[in-house]
Amino acid sequence: MKVLFAASEIHPLIKTGGLADVAGSLPIALRNKGIDVKLIMPAYTGMVDKVGAITNTTNLGDPFGVGDLILLETSLPNSDIPMYLVQCKSLFERDAGPYLDSYGYDYNDNHIRFAAFSWVCAFITQYGRILNWQPDLLHLNDWQTGLAAAYLAAWKLKHPPIVTTVHNLRYNGSFPIERYGDVRLPNDLLSLHGMEFYGQFSALKAGLVFVDAITTVSPTYAKEILTPDYGDGLDGTLTALSHRLSGILNGVDYNEWSPEKDPHIECSYDIHSLDKKLANKRSLQRENNLPEKDDVPVYGIVSRLTEQKGLDLVPAAMETALKQGAMLILLGSGDKTLEEQYLALQKRFPEQVAIKIGYDEAYAHRLQAGVDILLIPSRFEPCGLTQLYALKYGTLPLVRRTGGLADTVFETGEDANGFVFDKANIEDFSAAIERSLHVFKNLGQWRDLQHRAMSKDHSWESVTEQWITLYRKLLENK
Ligand code: ADP
Ligand code: GLC
Repeated sequence: MKVLFAASEIHPLIKTGGLADVAGSLPIALRNKGIDVKLIMPAYTGMVDKVGAITNTTNLGDPFGVGDLILLETSLPNSDIPMYLVQCKSLFERDAGPYLDSYGYDYNDNHIRFAAFSWVCAFITQYGRILNWQPDLLHLNDWQTGLAAAYLAAWKLKHPPIVTTVHNLRYNGSFPIERYGDVRLPNDLLSLHGMEFYGQFSALKAGLVFVDAITTVSPTYAKEILTPDYGDGLDGTLTALSHRLSGILNGVDYNEWSPEKDPHIECSYDIHSLDKKLANKRSLQRENNLPEKDDVPVYGIVSRLTEQKGLDLVPAAMETALKQGAMLILLGSGDKTLEEQYLALQKRFPEQVAIKIGYDEAYAHRLQAGVDILLIPSRFEPCGLTQLYALKYGTLPLVRRTGGLADTVFETGEDANGFVFDKANIEDFSAAIERSLHVFKNLGQWRDLQHRAMSKDHSWESVTEQWITLYRKLLENK
């Protein structure tokens, strides 16, 4: 079975969040099960130097009047996964990130940038024969690839089945209707049942209405998005399409995220040598100029700083714990107000709070290994990967019960592996912190939770069968 897997970010090439982790690891797991997966991603600045050798180059012309779209055939670094890069200097070679300029604003031509990328995905799906590789199935991810489904619908030819995975409904790729002409699609796709979205057009909605199956990254989020509270305006559309919707939990690439073989951490450890986790705690405290203390709980955060993550609640919710001596170490970047809020907290508690604003992959690993508890108070969380990494590192997650967090972290019962609260308010959140402080004082109980956390299998191998079953079903029904 041949699958074209399209994503706008893929680890280790480029990453702004969990989508990159998924796109850089699920395809490897599928390939190990015999699926012929090829990746496709835009050739952002510097990508060509990071990938394997370029084995083929095809010029697909200039359908958007912005410069030729060039298809490069190569492979993902450190893997045997074949990959296409879509090159177009004027669209993809920018100084800042994949979506935002250096001031943090969306590029004003994002609709054209990702229309062009999506057009190439559609082209390969429809006409791959002329490139000697035509997929049996197209797998889209998030709004940046959604218009591929619209091009295939517009061409009105029989084409392979399409599945869209929604990693985050909040980013719906909607643009003013006046720009619809730029993406060169026919007006008949712009109806209420098409890609029209509150007077705009939405690339994500295109990726929902013109496809054969929709998945989200956890079973709970798949249910939540059918409600107005979590549906971000698409709950009606998703409810009408719910027969095509399912939730498949994300997995973890344990080659990257395992304390027994993580090259980024001070001291390797596993479930049988948890005492060695302390060496990582001390080293993290040292690195942050905090006093080295084994007996105070260290809370950690590794996150994009956005409204989604509920991190505005942390300073108030942590107040009592900080007054009792707990520590807090954060790595994150995003919302400037939140950044300032955390830097102010660090000023108030310089011996206990360490804030690093920025993006640092290696430090994210050291943090996961060094802290005792990872805070994830998200208002919504499609899956969440950091709690899965934390579990593997014997770092207990403290989470709000939503989306993938609700599916993977439990405070009671035989699966207990962390701390969970219900309402996104300071009261509920600080009560959960209180409970964690209490359990931290009981090493036996703490170790029990750590053992359960570390022994749970969240590998991709544990979920690939669900993907293969879905792919097969789509091929049979087409
Ligand atoms: P989301 O995709 O919503 O940001 P996830 O939990 O699914 O949330 O994935 C976040 C990924 O990004 C994880 O791999 C996490 O370690 C990483 N990450 C988030 N912020 C940072 C940061 N500031 N530096 C390094 N890695 C980060
Ligand atoms: C999104 C979600 C996150 C999920 C990730 C990977 O960024 O916010 O919850 O884990 O995608 O699917």
